[in-house]
Amino acid sequence: MVTEFSPAKINLFLAVTGRRADGFHDLVSVVAPLDFGDELAAEELGAERGARSSGAADKAPKADQGPGQFVLECDDPAVPVDESNLVLKAAKAFAGATGWTAGVRFRLRKRIPLGAGLGGGSSNAVAALRALNALSGRGLPEEALAKLAAGLGSDCALFLRREPVVMRGRGDRVEPVPEPAAQRLRGRRVLLFKPSFGIATPWAYRRMMERGGDYVAPAEAESRWEKWRQSDAPAEDLLFNNLEPAAFAKYPALPLLLARLRREGGVSAAMSGSGSACFALRPAAGGTGADEASVQRLRQQIHECWGPVAWVQDARIG
Ligand code: C5P
Repeated sequence: MVTEFSPAKINLFLAVTGRRADGFHDLVSVVAPLDFGDELAAEELGAERGARSSGAADKAPKADQGPGQFVLECDDPAVPVDESNLVLKAAKAFAGATGWTAGVRFRLRKRIPLGAGLGGGSSNAVAALRALNALSGRGLPEEALAKLAAGLGSDCALFLRREPVVMRGRGDRVEPVPEPAAQRLRGRRVLLFKPSFGIATPWAYRRMMERGGDYVAPAEAESRWEKWRQSDAPAEDLLFNNLEPAAFAKYPALPLLLARLRREGGVSAAMSGSGSACFALRPAAGGTGADEASVQRLRQQIHECWGPVAWVQDARIG
């Protein structure tokens, strides 16, 4: 049995620069994993379901035999546990790449909300790859895992790094945020909050395309990021997301609350990825009584604006 922590992420900086010939969008994004997330346990099933390819290769179920080789259970009934789940897609890709044919039961402890822009599904897929890599003893190198991850979703590659990264292309080109800039992100406390509704990523990108005018030129995206990186400005000054206008036009509850938190709470806040979750950066000197009181006020404002069903979660940039 192997258990993997599957972190959520936030996009501190997201500049979508234009549509590509393959239908995806190019972007420059600074993304950080959080200390908050899901947990994925993987356990090899007995010989009745599968067997290691060595010795029992002929009788063992093949990776492409479909449902049955891998089983997914989740404590949240809203999460689909069929073949559409990225955990099972990742497992299938791993089996295809390695020829490992054992049966595996995954148990997902779901904490990251769906449709939030917090990368839950992509993170779970990478956790599945890591778990299978450990369980199978195949020890695929990081480059091979990265190739598998990139084939599963645009946000998967970033989760292979356990640190703040800059992501480019459609999200598949990932490099660590260089020091000392990374120090201005690591350890920062954030408050995550999501309204009762989610936003589907394809919808957000499609709306952006239809609106036409929200893209940022690639050179401008790079220069904004470089300017922050080379300065000693705090994380607050990095916040940017040009998917916000498309989402805000349809869901005015989002900009309404963010404006109120900035004005009355004095915090910097933005939407994460394609939403609908947003985050506020908590004051840098965390842990004091004054800070706790200010977080209580933020929570109160969130619930006043979005109602008692709004989801709120404390977290820290990893
Ligand atoms: O890769 P992923 O499955 O996360 O992407 C979901 C959808 O979001 C894509 O089908 C596409 O419509 C949109 N997308 C995009 N450009 C990206 C990432 C996602 O257009 N870089």
